[in-house]
Amino acid sequence: EQVFQGRSLLAEKDFTREELEYLIDFSAHLKDLKKRNIPHRYLEGKNIALLFEKASTRTRAAFTVAAIDLGAHPEYLGKNDIQLGKKESVEDTAKVLGSMFDGIEFRGFSQKTVEDLAKYAGVPVWNGLTDDWHPTQMIADFLTVKEHFGKLAGLKLVYVGDGRNNVANSLLVTGAILGVNITICAPESLFPTDGLVEMAQKFAEKSGSKIEITADVAKGVKAADVLYTDVWVSMGEEDKFEERIELLTPYQINMEMIEKTGNDDVIMLHCLPAFHDTKTQYGQEIAETFGMREMEVTDAAFRSKHGLQFEQAENRMHSIKAIMAATLGNLFIPKV
Ligand code: CP
Ligand code: NVA
Repeated sequence: EQVFQGRSLLAEKDFTREELEYLIDFSAHLKDLKKRNIPHRYLEGKNIALLFEKASTRTRAAFTVAAIDLGAHPEYLGKNDIQLGKKESVEDTAKVLGSMFDGIEFRGFSQKTVEDLAKYAGVPVWNGLTDDWHPTQMIADFLTVKEHFGKLAGLKLVYVGDGRNNVANSLLVTGAILGVNITICAPESLFPTDGLVEMAQKFAEKSGSKIEITADVAKGVKAADVLYTDVWVSMGEEDKFEERIELLTPYQINMEMIEKTGNDDVIMLHCLPAFHDTKTQYGQEIAETFGMREMEVTDAAFRSKHGLQFEQAENRMHSIKAIMAATLGNLFIPKV
């Protein structure tokens, strides 16, 4: 039975532990094939639409290279290129794109948009990040963790920072499904919503994962295997710099926090882009306006032996390849 074929990836909660584990392991397999120059053209002759309402480096690059490696043609449709949601409804756009393309990636604001695309397109739709979730990121992240530790279940992953954004939501739920212990360490006003914590608890009861939500940094990071952070201000909320800097400064990943884990082998992950110095135009503006030269992670922590963010970024490509090949490829996957 081909349980992946034809399916969309809109949110992690729609997939079982076994299915997510399969995607992680399949990513590792495709990574190995790529490293050994062995062709893996599971999507020969297919056409993939890449819809972006928000900016992207990794997700766009990963989908593009993954599609081409798989033998498919990727077509980028940016927010100024198509009528989506402005002059043409999501429903109509989905019907048209679905009649021409074999699969559609969408990155944007509303989760409802990606759900409606999937509802009307009639082809697999992959969520490349919405305000609520970042599911393709999760396959790469847990692949990176599994490569490093050789296992997932029972590890302690601590996310510090904005506990309400897409990446935090996804880590909480995906970790709970996979049996990884997840701590969200954030100021109370940025705790994940009650509904989300409840959802994660339900998954955790089944997987054996432990869920902890705390504002206490020392307690939260203690004995962490993985420290994870993300930007304090996500795309679309650029008016929140001042309040986030005020709230989140104690939650910065720096060498002192790494020491507080008590684990010299702790790894640090970040989905990127990261604000760790003032070498960017953005960094200079924040430094001038708010006096912050580093935000969610210090340059020292970022460049330390703990930081695996670039391995993690590379894994976006291998894992997106696995997601597309599993849901759209002509391959037989036994029921997992
Ligand atoms: N991590 C991530 O999604 O990066 P991009 O925004 O560059 O795609
Ligand atoms: N939380 C970030 C993630 C970027 C990959 C954002 O939504 O901007």
